[in-house]
Formats: sequence, C-alpha cells, structure tokens
Amino acid sequence: MVLDLVNITLQRDDAQILQNINWQIEQGEHWVLYGLNGSGKTALLDLINAYNFPTSGSATVLGFQFGKVYLGEELRKKIGFVSSSLQEKFYPTDNAFEVVLSGAFASIGLYETPTDEMRERAIGLLEDLGCIGYANRDYATLSQGEKQRVLIARALMANPSILILDEPTNGLDFIAREQLLDSIERLAIKENSPTIIYVTHHVEEILPVFTKTLLLKSGEVFASGETNQIITSEILSDYFNLSVHVNWENNRPYLVKGK
Ligand SMILES: Nc1ncnc2c1ncn2[C@@H]1O[C@H](COP(=O)(O)OP(=O)(O)OP(=O)(O)O)[C@@H](O)[C@H]1O
Ligand SMILES: [Mg+2]
Repeated sequence: MVLDLVNITLQRDDAQILQNINWQIEQGEHWVLYGLNGSGKTALLDLINAYNFPTSGSATVLGFQFGKVYLGEELRKKIGFVSSSLQEKFYPTDNAFEVVLSGAFASIGLYETPTDEMRERAIGLLEDLGCIGYANRDYATLSQGEKQRVLIARALMANPSILILDEPTNGLDFIAREQLLDSIERLAIKENSPTIIYVTHHVEEILPVFTKTLLLKSGEVFASGETNQIITSEILSDYFNLSVHVNWENNRPYLVKGK
C-alpha cells in the first residue's frame, strides 16, 4: 500500500479543513485529485508530505505511520513534488541541467559536487522529459512549459516512490499542455514509474493512465474510485450543483455545461 488514510480530520483554529478522509492507493495506481478552489487539496497534499498532521484518524504513507516517530524528512525524500509555486524558487542563472541535478540533493541551487552517475541520470531525465535541447539554457529564460518539464525531471532525480503534480499545466497554452501531458503519460506507463497523484481543476487533463479519481468537496471525499465511474455526467452534475455533460473522446473526458 502506497497510501492509507483512514478517517482523517484536520482542524486549524476553528476551521474544519478536512473531514472523514478515507483514501487508499495501491502500488501501480495513478490517481487524479480533483477539487474546486478551497476544497482542501493543498491541505491534503501537505498532510501526505507530513507538513500537516491529522487532528484525528490514521495515516500511513509509504509504510511510514504518522504519530509513531518523526517522519517528515525521511518521508519527503521519497516524495517528488512539482507545483507552479515552485517555479520561481530557483536561481535564474542556474541552467536547466543544474536545476535537475539539484534534485539529487533536495536543494535549491547546487552546493555539492554531483557524481558522474548523477550527471548521467540528469541527462537521461532531461531526454525523457524532452528538455535536452535546452539543458544549457539559464532557467530564467525558459518558458512556463519548459520550466515545468525541468521541474518534473528534477523531482525524478531522487527516484521518488510518489510523484505529486499539483496543477502542472497552469499557464500553459493548448500545445504546451498536450505536450506535457504526453510526457506525463510516457512516464506513467513505465514499469518503474512512481505512483503519480495528479492534481487538477480540469477534467480534460485526465489521461487514460489515471485510472483512479478522488473528488474532493468542502474538505470531504465526494466520490472516489475508478475514473470512468466517477467522471460521469450524473456525479459531476451533483458535485457542481449544475447540470453538466461528460463527453469521452479517445479515452479522455471533456466537460460541457448542460442546459
Ligand atoms: N491555517 C488555516 N486556518 C483556517 N483555514 C485554513 C487554513 N489553511 C487553509 N484553510 C482553509 O481550508 C480550505 C482548504 O484550503 P486548501 O488550500 O487546501 O484548498 P485547495 O483545494 O488547495 O484550493 P485551491 O484550488 O484554491 O488551491 C480553504 O477554505 C482555506 O481557506
Ligand atoms: Mg491549493
């Protein structure tokens, strides 16, 4: 079991941020976490990363059971995290290759001398993610889409067991988004792929490899299970309180507002 959350609640001051969260992820599954603004996605991801501690319930992530021992640092070594808020944290004059290499040390910037093995791995990842062509370019000169690819490669440097992609297509145009989704799909179908948790506001981004979906609403699990049974006109109309239709094309769902 990669993730086992049982009856999790999270309270901050007077606010109940997460309630009765049950979520089990098995090895080999890739999940979409879908939720409107303020539904608790970031709170839930911070909990998985051991930045938030559950107020009640039991949480086991990659075999680390919360509450037994201090586990934050050890656990976070095994979790790769990519979000657009990470994009601006890197030194503008570091090149893409250096940014990827820094993932081996979980540092912003390179302070240690990378081994030859690390350099080879970084080059392999830059190739896999389609960014070898700009490996020597200053990070600051890269487009949003290029930066996202570099950051995914960086997250993979540490060989994580879980890769969390938090709205990775933010700010990308249609072509850049589809190219990034192609790269994510190639990664996800690899035999040694980490378990991917893909966070999005957009149903259209749910690739066929994401066979499982969890819908979060107001801090609770609204529905979870097989994507094709969750992403339906009926469930989403209930979820939004608005009539919507889901059209499937080439194994991907598209959402349109009903009348
Ligand atoms: N420390 C806190 N104290 C009180 N309320 C909080 C605190 N942190 C988060 N919240 C509230 O908890 C809710 C869930 O927040 P969260 O950031 O997890 O939402 P989200 O699903 O990530 O939204 P978005 O899509 O906008 O990023 C929000 O209503 C937020 O205002
Ligand atoms: Mg958020």
